[in-house]
Amino acid sequence: MPLPLIILALSAWPAAAAAAAAMQPSDTCLRRCGDVEIPYPFGVGSGCHLETGDWTFKMSCNRTDDGRLRVYNYEIEVVDFSVQRGQLRIYNSINPWCYNATTAAMNDQSNWWYDMSITNFRINDALNRFTVVGCNSLAYIRSLNDTADGRYMTGCMSMCPGAGQLQNGSCAGVGCCQTAIPSGLNAYNVSFEEKFNTSGIAGFSPCSYAVLLETAEFDFRTTYVTTEEFMVATGGQVPLVLDWAIGNKTCEEAKRNASAYACVSDNSECVDSKYGRGRGYLCNCSAGYEGNPYLLDGCQDINECEDKRFRYPCSVPGTCANTPGGFICACSDTTTGNAYNGTCWDTKSQLGWKIAIGVSTGVVVLIVAVSCVYMIHQKRRLAKIKREHFRQHGGLLLFEEMKSRQGLSFTLFTQDELEHATNRFDERNVIGRGGNGTVYKGTTKDNAVVAIKRCRLAASERQKKEFGKEMLILSQINHRNIVKLYGCCLEVEVPMLVYKYMPNGTLYRLIHGAPAPRIPFAARVRIAHQTAEALAYLHSWASPPIIHGDVKTSNILLDEDYTAKVSDFGASTLAPTDAAQFVTFVQGTCGYLDPEYMRTCRLTDKSDVYSFGVVLLELLTCRKALNLEELEEEKYLSSQFLLVVRENRLEEILDPQIKSEQNIEVLEQVGELAKQCLEISGDRRPSMREVAEELDRLSKLSQHPWGQHKSEELVSLLDGSPFADSEIELSSSIRNVSISDSAYLGIRSPR
Ligand SMILES: *[C@@H]1O[C@H](CO)[C@@H](O)[C@H](O)[C@H]1NC(C)=O
Ligand SMILES: *[C@@H]1O[C@H](CO)[C@@H](O)[C@H](O)[C@H]1NC(C)=O
Ligand SMILES: *[C@@H]1O[C@H](CO)[C@@H](O)[C@H](O)[C@H]1NC(C)=O
Ligand SMILES: *[C@@H]1O[C@H](CO)[C@@H](O)[C@H](O)[C@H]1NC(C)=O
Ligand SMILES: *[C@@H]1O[C@H](CO)[C@@H](O)[C@H](O)[C@H]1NC(C)=O
Ligand SMILES: *[C@@H]1O[C@H](CO)[C@@H](O)[C@H](O)[C@H]1NC(C)=O
Ligand SMILES: *[C@@H]1O[C@H](CO)[C@@H](O)[C@H](O)[C@H]1NC(C)=O
Ligand SMILES: *[C@@H]1O[C@H](CO)[C@@H](O)[C@H](O)[C@H]1NC(C)=O
Ligand SMILES: *[C@@H]1O[C@H](CO)[C@@H](O)[C@H](O)[C@H]1NC(C)=O
Ligand SMILES: *[C@@H]1O[C@H](CO)[C@@H](O)[C@H](O)[C@H]1NC(C)=O
Repeated sequence: MPLPLIILALSAWPAAAAAAAAMQPSDTCLRRCGDVEIPYPFGVGSGCHLETGDWTFKMSCNRTDDGRLRVYNYEIEVVDFSVQRGQLRIYNSINPWCYNATTAAMNDQSNWWYDMSITNFRINDALNRFTVVGCNSLAYIRSLNDTADGRYMTGCMSMCPGAGQLQNGSCAGVGCCQTAIPSGLNAYNVSFEEKFNTSGIAGFSPCSYAVLLETAEFDFRTTYVTTEEFMVATGGQVPLVLDWAIGNKTCEEAKRNASAYACVSDNSECVDSKYGRGRGYLCNCSAGYEGNPYLLDGCQDINECEDKRFRYPCSVPGTCANTPGGFICACSDTTTGNAYNGTCWDTKSQLGWKIAIGVSTGVVVLIVAVSCVYMIHQKRRLAKIKREHFRQHGGLLLFEEMKSRQGLSFTLFTQDELEHATNRFDERNVIGRGGNGTVYKGTTKDNAVVAIKRCRLAASERQKKEFGKEMLILSQINHRNIVKLYGCCLEVEVPMLVYKYMPNGTLYRLIHGAPAPRIPFAARVRIAHQTAEALAYLHSWASPPIIHGDVKTSNILLDEDYTAKVSDFGASTLAPTDAAQFVTFVQGTCGYLDPEYMRTCRLTDKSDVYSFGVVLLELLTCRKALNLEELEEEKYLSSQFLLVVRENRLEEILDPQIKSEQNIEVLEQVGELAKQCLEISGDRRPSMREVAEELDRLSKLSQHPWGQHKSEELVSLLDGSPFADSEIELSSSIRNVSISDSAYLGIRSPR
């Protein structure tokens, strides 16, 4: 009698379970024991099998009493292993229950049970069945452990109504019965129902047998009922198919610990156990590969072309080419067709094929032609857009004008050049911002420091026209007191003007900057004189004269030597020659506006004279042209000035600094000049030329040596004054004045 299959040994859990699981087995490991191949992850001895903390992969190779080598997993003898299916087969013992003639009764039942819970094996429910052989036999199978559905128990009954009804190969309840088992079983016991026994039929059938076995390996014989052949033929042991798995993690969980992850081969993949979550995982070679996925480089490409299992995968012989993970069936160079399914035919002899080549060549030519046409069209469209921008920005007007006058005095910049100069219009290069646009500081290719005025993106037609006008005027003028236009860029949606950079900002800044500056009188007269010269030049240079239209301190820039440079010609216009050309909207800045122009809507050179008068007042008084905080009559500097002059109180309004510096006669003469400029009637105002000459005279009169000095001396001069400390600070602040004034380069604040 073979020993019942008993596994106890809960005390025998492997001690060294913590070894690195993903470690590869050594080459010296025993891979064959008797007739049985032992593939990794199974193995004999430590280091030869996968360590998972249980007995699943731990095998031993024992020599049994009959001298043969057999593989055991603890007490279970293994028939064979399958790495690909994740299965192994073991020998399961047949449980007999026989009539004892000596005692004239049934033998005692052994308490047969079977527990695999120290391993990760589960009984495959598809391939195995609980089988009972005998007559008048009822046997039970019970799970020892609660499954997910609770404790399981079933029975199978085999009867023999008549001896003649037994049939070889038929296990359908007569002499033999089989029943399916539930999924996931790994511990069970078997017992016979005592009420049904063979004591009454011992002459025909002395024994009953119950066993869980692999269905495919069992073939019922009628002699199993009538003799002890079932035990004799099988040696008391029949195969049982078990499924195995690695650990109790899912693939996803297992992959997180790379050192323990078992699917180490390239081209391998992980498969979750079919028994569900927490029941481990298996490895498998990817499609097109085969071998052992648990070994490095275990999965090898299948050569489908030569592998007999695939017969010949291509329908056309000689066309198969193996590829990693697959194969291709390709017709040779001179043939075409479907080598997988169909046939390959000779291309040369096939008219259809020639036509196909002809057609495809035609298609290619057509595509090329169409894309060429498309590209040319796109290019033209782009050029048209650029031309359109150019026209919008007054470019044509400018060019026609220049054609007639000859001599290109400035550069046409491309968009790229200006982007490069300003580091792609980096915010850090912004030096001024206003209603019409933004001014950037930049350095051109030839290392000139420039200010780039860029119209607002959503500039109106009028604003764009102003840009054009300014360009037109500045491009023609070359005067040392008028800001120099370097060039412009017209080919973009947003027009841009490029000027020489003015390091000392605006006159407005100089006068009204904080803290209150100390500007020597002579310097004020000199700046006024330079401004007057510039305006006089404008008025006399062309006929009809060019009228600036927006003279104010924030439109007068100061270069490194504090030389005045008149800027912003956006509001400028050529003096209208007839009534039809009267300007239709009033431009200019509050506080500087010629009252006559407001009344008549007619802009004349005398309007500039009026505005210049206000500038002169600002230089004399250091007050702003328009002071909204003041009382009504003192809001406008011009009206306030005329008021005090009428009442002979000029001294009250003058900047105290120049009063102390200059004798009052000269100051009064300047005041008188300002008063003339501010005459209500334009006709009574002096011309800009006359103003310039008067200022020239006055500047020579002002005895102060500063008049002949440059800015370096301005600093030393200030140094020597009683207020040395504070003024050194001031002078440096003048030099480094941050030119963020919105009026810089004439970007006017929205009115
Ligand atoms: C990863 O696996 C190794 C080897 O089995 C083990 O020593 C280690 O504790 C594991 N790490 C984690 C985070 O589970
Ligand atoms: C998984 O197995 C390890 C030992 O291999 C054990 O410590 C752990 O409790 C198990 N986890 C679950 C959820 O069964
Ligand atoms: C086989 O040998 C191992 C030790 O090498 C032992 O633990 C195991 O019980 C043996 N199995 C059988 C069935 O004798
Ligand atoms: C491994 O892949 C093969 C072929 O794709 C398949 O027949 C087999 O069932 C797979 N094994 C597992 C455990 O999924
Ligand atoms: C019958 O029973 C006796 C007494 O219990 C026992 O010694 C004997 O071995 C049994 N015979 C068989 C064939 O089991
Ligand atoms: C066997 O069954 C008979 C009835 O068929 C019964 O009388 C007898 O006690 C049973 N024997 C055993 C050992 O249970
Ligand atoms: C199954 O039952 C046996 C005996 O009742 C017990 O020793 C074992 O730990 C159980 N296994 C599981 C996985 O519950
Ligand atoms: C069944 O097959 C066995 C041989 O395996 C034979 O001895 C027996 O007579 C057969 N039984 C029937 C009913 O054919
Ligand atoms: C096996 O089943 C019998 C009932 O036939 C029961 O008495 C016994 O306790 C079971 N064995 C185990 C280990 O559960
Ligand atoms: C082979 O032919 C069948 C039926 O004609 C088609 O479904 C299949 O996609 C073909 N296979 C290849 C590789 O061309």
